[in-house]
Amino acid sequence: MRRFLLLLVIALVLIGIGICLGVMVDRHLNPPVKPPAQFTGASLQPCPDEYVLTRFQQLWFESRPWAENRWLGIQTLQYPTDVWVTQEILFDTKPDFVVECGSYRGGSAAAWATFLKETNPEGRVISIDIEDRMGDARKLPICKERVDFLVGSSIDPKIVAEVTRRVTGKKVFVLLDSLHTKEHVLSELRNYSPLVSKGQYIEVQDTALSRHPIKAGLGGGAHEAVQEFLASTDAFMSDGSRNRMILSCSPGGYLKRVK
Ligand SMILES: C[S@@+](CC[C@H](N)C(=O)[O-])C[C@H]1O[C@@H](n2cnc3c(N)ncnc32)[C@H](O)[C@@H]1O
Repeated sequence: MRRFLLLLVIALVLIGIGICLGVMVDRHLNPPVKPPAQFTGASLQPCPDEYVLTRFQQLWFESRPWAENRWLGIQTLQYPTDVWVTQEILFDTKPDFVVECGSYRGGSAAAWATFLKETNPEGRVISIDIEDRMGDARKLPICKERVDFLVGSSIDPKIVAEVTRRVTGKKVFVLLDSLHTKEHVLSELRNYSPLVSKGQYIEVQDTALSRHPIKAGLGGGAHEAVQEFLASTDAFMSDGSRNRMILSCSPGGYLKRVK
């Protein structure tokens, strides 16, 4: 019994040290944005717009109101501003297919399908996730009508081949919202960009992470993947006009095929 208690105490001490080290590493990698002078009472200069905008985006992300958003009752991890802009792109480009990497509970797929129903009567959504949590979404009439959920990794060659088989020759809009590491997003961009024809879009979500300006995420992420992808091709450009809302999880991530 004594031995057990001793081991328990050692384990708790080690866990405590681990947590402290984790917090210290996070503070080091994500130092807080320094408040401008007037917040400290040292100056009467107006607050710099850039600081306000940056802090607003960080606070909005960190306080997570977006995580409780629902579309037709299904949890949907989207900023309303990005959903609005996506709706505008779907109206402008009228794709036959939305290919979404990252379904989560299926709320976003249901939203894209709702818009597609109005913009292209034949339009369908293919939504891919490595985990199947889309049970409630599948029961929605709009999903029964026009959403196919595929379970597997978005960069699994079998999944890529299946999606390619279904959409070849059609107008395709691609939305990347699965794993947000640089390598994964770059692989998705390379696998799915050939499906996108001139005038259509790839929307790369969560380019705001990894300190652009949201601090969540260590190392490079979607932003870095977009930079590397755009440097490798002149067929796509980042359409800045789609970022007019300022509050967006996809700054620089609305990529339009121009060639
Ligand atoms: C941010 S959530 C998607 C949110 C969803 N689009 C929405 O708006 O509600 C990311 C999803 O990506 C999935 N995911 C992680 N790795 C993946 C992979 N390799 N392939 C496909 N999906 C993956 C996770 O299971 C998770 O459900």
